[in-house]
Amino acid sequence: MTLLPGALPFYPLMDGPTPLQEMPRLRDALLTEAPNCPRLFVKRDDLTGLAGGGNKTRKLQYLIADALQQGADTVITAGALQSNHVRQTAAAAAKAGLRAHAILFDMVDYPEPAYHTSGNILLDRILGATLHRPAKGANARDVFDEVMQQVEAEGGTPYMVPVGGSNAVGSTAYAEVFLEITAQCETQGVTPTRITHATGSLGTQAGLLAGRALSGLELPIQAVSVARPDREALAGELLEIANQTATRIGAADVLDRDIHVDFRHVGDGYGLPTSAMVSAVELVARTEGILLDPVYSGKGMAGLIAQILNGEIDADETVVFLHTGGMPGLFAYSEMFP
Ligand SMILES: Cc1ncc(COP(=O)(O)O)c(C=O)c1O
Repeated sequence: MTLLPGALPFYPLMDGPTPLQEMPRLRDALLTEAPNCPRLFVKRDDLTGLAGGGNKTRKLQYLIADALQQGADTVITAGALQSNHVRQTAAAAAKAGLRAHAILFDMVDYPEPAYHTSGNILLDRILGATLHRPAKGANARDVFDEVMQQVEAEGGTPYMVPVGGSNAVGSTAYAEVFLEITAQCETQGVTPTRITHATGSLGTQAGLLAGRALSGLELPIQAVSVARPDREALAGELLEIANQTATRIGAADVLDRDIHVDFRHVGDGYGLPTSAMVSAVELVARTEGILLDPVYSGKGMAGLIAQILNGEIDADETVVFLHTGGMPGLFAYSEMFP
């Protein structure tokens, strides 16, 4: 079932909706230091259910449908060695009867051996994806072209899934999630005052913004950047994906003033742990039994907790934290959690 108008091509990979749950014990823990702590809810998109779950399952329901419509029998995608997106694409391809090729770029300077062998990369292998691991510094375009030619030479028909599934086709899923969250809030008698989430390749954020534009609601969407250092590095691309998505679903334009991003939690860069991320992962695990991840949702939650501790969120607010998944990544960073 889709909450969006029109009949966009859709390949079902999950049973929705995912749960929307309150986090009272996390709030109690934060209240000891921040008397202004708002009500906290979590949207469990870590529970999308496909091979470890996460936000990419949502996007792939639209991307796989597009690939099938175009007559493809092979998907090609790319990401970092510990990409959740690659894992989910490998799983979605398996479920849809497609072959998957994944280009894994060694772009994170993180020396732990498990980073190179465990976590998502282990699951990619089990899921049957053909993995390509270009040398450090290889030109991404050239590598894509080589893999594309290889697939074609073997008689395959390739379909390129963009990094993170972040284009208008994939982001459509998060326009739908915006509507799903607001519908669940209404059913549960909750009035949210903001949605907070981690942003990387921007598709989740773009989709949420497009869904917000479709709904006409003023509910702010607060992203926490895990990769890009500043607004200049993010806003242009974000608006482009958001507005292509808005056009696809028949929504009004997303405006620059709708973009809210906290850049204080990137740390030393994409995929590099921060102590605030470690504390956030441990606190949420130990109060709510919910596992975040070290690259995305852990830094996203670290951002939300810091905003609460700094008094940047009022006591009468109700925050929905969108958990975008990524738990398998914890195994690649085991040394951070002694
Ligand atoms: C677990 C997790 N959370 C958040 C994100 C960020 O989503 P987006 O790339 O749509 O910004 C990703 C992307 O790879 C992810 O794997």
